[in-house]
Amino acid sequence: MEAARRGGLSSGFVPTMGALHEGHRKLIQAARHECDWLAVSIFVNPTQFGPEEDFDTYPRDLDSDLAMCRQLGVDLVFQPGRDEVYPATHRTFVEVETVTSHLCGRFRPGHFRGVATVVLKLLNILQPDRAYFGEKDAQQTVVVRQLVKDLNLPVDIRQVPTVREFDGLAISSRNQHLGPQERRAATVLFRALKEIRTMVLQGARDAGRIRRRGLRLLSQEPLVEVEYLEMVDPETMQPISQVRGPARAAAAIRVGGVRLIDNLLCEDAGR
Ligand code: PAF
Repeated sequence: MEAARRGGLSSGFVPTMGALHEGHRKLIQAARHECDWLAVSIFVNPTQFGPEEDFDTYPRDLDSDLAMCRQLGVDLVFQPGRDEVYPATHRTFVEVETVTSHLCGRFRPGHFRGVATVVLKLLNILQPDRAYFGEKDAQQTVVVRQLVKDLNLPVDIRQVPTVREFDGLAISSRNQHLGPQERRAATVLFRALKEIRTMVLQGARDAGRIRRRGLRLLSQEPLVEVEYLEMVDPETMQPISQVRGPARAAAAIRVGGVRLIDNLLCEDAGR
């Protein structure tokens, strides 16, 4: 990327954990469109998984990942080994405060510490002008933006809209672990978020009432277990009690042991 910069070219970076899908395709295409030179990393980062989480079973498919990168004109695929990223002598971790205290940060202790650490390392190694993250992981983008601001990193963080299946389910590497019934049940997540957005657009302001309506919808699906459903300030990821400006409805559910997250920006254009 240094050579790209020396040659006056702009450089882009898409960090991934592999198992590339249509959501990643959109990230890579957005980066390809905006940058002269493009790197994608593939690294299943162990430090962002808790001891009971799915690190071992996280989907991995390097051949198809490399084929997608080749097809999309990626200039460099950075695929470090675990010992390169975390040698036995590694001692430093990054904690981003406050924006990690709710939603996934609350239910996955240590998760954002692992994300912030690996993203900082990757940004330091590759030194891109721009880095691309998906809106499905909106809290992750907020965490990374905070990290970049607090540590004065010279990189522009871009967020790319969520890519959805035909029935609204947000595309995720974990979707492939859903059985047919679970796959059908999982669609309730987007339906609940859409219902919330409609309520806000129709003038609902009481976040508690809005949230209860979403929870009621989710509870109609017996295969679904709700981890959280919150209305949050999109800048800080802190829960709000009243919708006074743009708000994000964010949820995590488990369907047959598969953890799925999604969120929707609820913005009343007329406000
Ligand atoms: O969003 C992801 O895939 C991961 O959290 C990331 C940003 C690649 C860090 O491991």
